[in-house]
Amino acid sequence: MIRSALMNVMTAAALKAGRGLKRDFGEVENLQVSVKGPGDFVSAADRKAEKILFEELTKARPGYGFVLEEGGAVEGADKSHTWFIDPLDGTTNFLHGLPIFAISIGLAREGQIVAGLVYNPANDDMFIAEKGQGAYYNNRRLRVAARRDMADALIGCGIPHIGKAKEHPRFKAEFASVMARAGNIRRLGAAALDLCFVASGSYDGFWERNLQAWDIAAGIVIIKEAGGFVTDADGGQDMLAKGSICAGNDVMHRNLLDLIKAA
Ligand code: IPD
Ligand code: CA
Ligand code: CA
Repeated sequence: MIRSALMNVMTAAALKAGRGLKRDFGEVENLQVSVKGPGDFVSAADRKAEKILFEELTKARPGYGFVLEEGGAVEGADKSHTWFIDPLDGTTNFLHGLPIFAISIGLAREGQIVAGLVYNPANDDMFIAEKGQGAYYNNRRLRVAARRDMADALIGCGIPHIGKAKEHPRFKAEFASVMARAGNIRRLGAAALDLCFVASGSYDGFWERNLQAWDIAAGIVIIKEAGGFVTDADGGQDMLAKGSICAGNDVMHRNLLDLIKAA
C-alpha cells in the first residue's frame, strides 16, 4: 500500500470531502419526491465538495495549480504541478440515488500524471496509484484482468446523453462494432470509477469519448500502475487533451481500439 506524504494528503482531502458527499447523498432520496427535485441540492453538494478539496490540497501543497470541474483553471505559483479535480463524478447517478459516484483527484508533474485517487464515499471504495508504486484498492494491489478473448470480455463504455446529439451517430457505430464481438457491455455512468474497474480487472476494457481531463487524469495512472494499457481513441497518449480513452490489458486494448477504429 502506498503511504507517501503525497498520498496521505490526497487521501485526507478525499475523505473530508467524501463525508459531506455521503451525508448529502442520504438527503437526495428524500428530495426525489419533491416537485423541484434534488437538482439544486446536488449542485450545491458538488460545489461544497470541490471547495473542501481545493482548500485541503492548497493547505498541504501551496502553490500547486488546479483544473477544477466547477471552478475552472486556477494558476499556481508552482508551474510544474497541477491538480485535476472532479469533486463528483457520476452526478446523474448521485441525483437518482444510485451509489455509483466518486471524487477524482489526479496530479500532473511537468505535464505527466504522477498520482491518482478515486474515492466513492457511498461504499468507501478507494482506488489509488502513484507512478512507479503500483495501484491499490483499499489495501489490495490491483492488476488488470488477464482475459484475452473478446467473446469472454466485459467491456465498459460511456453513452452520450440527449444534449450531445451530434455524438450519437459515432457512438452508435462504435457500439455496434463492439457489441458484435464483446461478451457483454456495461454503462455505469462515472468515468473515473469506470477506469478503476479496468484496473481492478472487473472490466476487461473500456472506451469513451468527449470526456474532460478531470474525469480521467486519476484513472489513467491507476490503470497504468495496474499493468494496463491506456490511450486516446486514436491510439496515442493525448488522452487529457482529446478527452477520449481506450483501455484494457495489452490484447484487449489493441482489439478494442481496432473495433472502435473500424466503426
Ligand atoms: C460524467 C460521467 C459520465 C460520462 C460523462 C461525464 P459528471 O461526469 O463521468 O460517466 O459519461 O461524459 O461528464 O458530469 O458526472 O461529473
Ligand atoms: Ca465527471
Ligand atoms: Ca462532476
